[in-house]
Amino acid sequence: MDSGLPLKIALIGNGSIATVVAHHCEGAPDRLHIVGALGLPEDLTSVGQHPLVQDLSALLAEMPDLVVECAAQEAAQVHGTAVLDSGIDLMVISVGAFADPILHDRLETAAVRGKAKIIIPAGALAGLDALGAAALDTLDYVSLTTRKPPLSWAGAPGVADIDLLALRGATTIFEGTAREAARRFPKNANVAAALALSGLGMDATQVTLIADPQASRNSHQVEARGAFGRLSATIEAEPSPDNPKTSYIASLSIVRMLDRLTAQLAN
Ligand SMILES: NC(=O)c1ccc[n+]([C@@H]2O[C@H](COP(=O)([O-])OP(=O)(O)OC[C@H]3O[C@@H](n4cnc5c(N)ncnc54)[C@H](O)[C@@H]3O)[C@@H](O)[C@H]2O)c1
Repeated sequence: MDSGLPLKIALIGNGSIATVVAHHCEGAPDRLHIVGALGLPEDLTSVGQHPLVQDLSALLAEMPDLVVECAAQEAAQVHGTAVLDSGIDLMVISVGAFADPILHDRLETAAVRGKAKIIIPAGALAGLDALGAAALDTLDYVSLTTRKPPLSWAGAPGVADIDLLALRGATTIFEGTAREAARRFPKNANVAAALALSGLGMDATQVTLIADPQASRNSHQVEARGAFGRLSATIEAEPSPDNPKTSYIASLSIVRMLDRLTAQLAN
């Protein structure tokens, strides 16, 4: 029987996450093969052995089984529906795109039309596997508390009135729903949206954001209660070697998902 392996993967993105994914795939050529990557004009050299292409049609002409978006929310917005409409599964790491209800609906509708799947890796969060299982019965409460050094929040609309450099102790800069958090703190939208998709949705997931001068890493604490019992999971994330804004674990979560799609034993 034809196993369909290696899985033919196309990347959208040529940055820090694409580098980790390419490195892993090149080490497992019997299971995973990258056919090409779409980048921006400034992406001059491929981060792997695969070719860089300039537009989506050239990428889809490589007949991938799966497109992995590891670029930007805008890339999911611009290219997502075309990928799914072509009947090709789409893995999305810029999950914050799903905080926009119109885009969320467009992507799901395209997936139904194209008989394709949208796959969301856990990214920088811990506990999403258990939360997804817990959500199959009653979930009463889901929350996310994100703690980052003050300057990590700089530029967000939600801190326009706060002098981040003047903070002397841990300060709560936001409490509200995941949807509002994603709007006012776009850089936190990925984790807020990923948690919401696994649990209670954007409007019932509670988010607290903390600017902490004593924090040396970004941390995300997930709490949940429901018929399953209680969940508490915290991750203190190390940055990627070549992009301090991206947690290294997010790249690994894509790699793990690719392994689960192709491994003999998928745990
Ligand atoms: N889900 C999570 O928990 C999580 C965690 C970390 C990062 N992320 C997201 O992953 C994405 C990639 O992160 P990274 O560290 O690799 O970023 P990066 O800046 O290192 O690389 C991004 C790459 O995508 C390309 N790109 C950007 N917009 C594009 C577009 N419209 N079309 C094609 N290519 C485009 C860039 O040129 C670059 O090659 C970001 O959106 C980031 O927010 C998600």
